[in-house]
Amino acid sequence: MSDTCKVWTRFESKKRDGTSIKLRIQSWKLKPQDAVFDLVMKHFVPEEAIHKAAGISKSPEAFQEYSELMTHFFKVAPLHTIVCCVDNESNTVDQIVGLSIAQLMKNTDKLEDIVNDMEFKSEEMQQLLHAAKVLEGYLKEKASCYETYYFGRGIFVHPEYRKMGIANELIKVKKLICIDNNVPMTCAGMSAVGTQRAAEKNNWKTFSDISIEELEEETGLTFGDDAISKHKLMYTTIN
Ligand SMILES: CC(C)(COP(=O)(O)OP(=O)(O)OC[C@H]1O[C@@H](n2cnc3c(N)ncnc32)[C@H](O)[C@@H]1OP(=O)(O)O)[C@@H](O)C(=O)NCCC(=O)NCCS
Repeated sequence: MSDTCKVWTRFESKKRDGTSIKLRIQSWKLKPQDAVFDLVMKHFVPEEAIHKAAGISKSPEAFQEYSELMTHFFKVAPLHTIVCCVDNESNTVDQIVGLSIAQLMKNTDKLEDIVNDMEFKSEEMQQLLHAAKVLEGYLKEKASCYETYYFGRGIFVHPEYRKMGIANELIKVKKLICIDNNVPMTCAGMSAVGTQRAAEKNNWKTFSDISIEELEEETGLTFGDDAISKHKLMYTTIN
């Protein structure tokens, strides 16, 4: 088995109907338009709080531009994607029920430089990028002492498989990937209760704890009533 499909953990969980299911977390070589890319576009983008507030999935133009941005991100720095799949005890991945994407960044990398050659016409994408730059500001203040680190580009669990501990397991594996690759730190913006709880359970620390009111003021976005009260930039180190 190649390193790109390394299996990190195997675990068992209970579905809502009470039946047990065997799952595993393994690496995944992300390619444009593959199954993981499709899950991100069709499910993560409409649901994740910041993408949702920016309205990316509601505008066909923004959705197309976001897809182009994702493809561009593949080229600028190495990605490490992991998937949670049903453990069929073979090497094949039949059903992906969760995923997490991290990108190896340098503390000198800037979003502005990464998207420099791209033009975003939709207001929704401009809003999303503005929000991303605001959050980058919070991160840079704290993460500058780490020359390199993994930055979370998205974590998602299929609605039928939620509250089964999958995000918890994905977040646990993020640290194992750091150790394996000798990367000192991994961090992510946690915009959902599930990921904040899972990170806390795995002893992640908090770089910044931003109230939704402050985030709305800084980004110009409006979060719905279903949004969480705090956005947290969380991290863990290999030490
Ligand atoms: C956020 C998300 C990844 C959580 O995945 P999950 O596999 O259901 O999370 P887990 O089962 O590992 O739950 C971790 C903890 O959070 C709790 N939790 C999960 N979802 C919750 C919710 N909606 N409300 C309250 N608690 C929740 C779990 O009970 C668990 O806590 P416990 O161990 O103390 O019982 C999933 O809901 C999702 O994909 N959401 C849409 C995309 C998104 O917002 N991604 C997050 C970006 S940071």
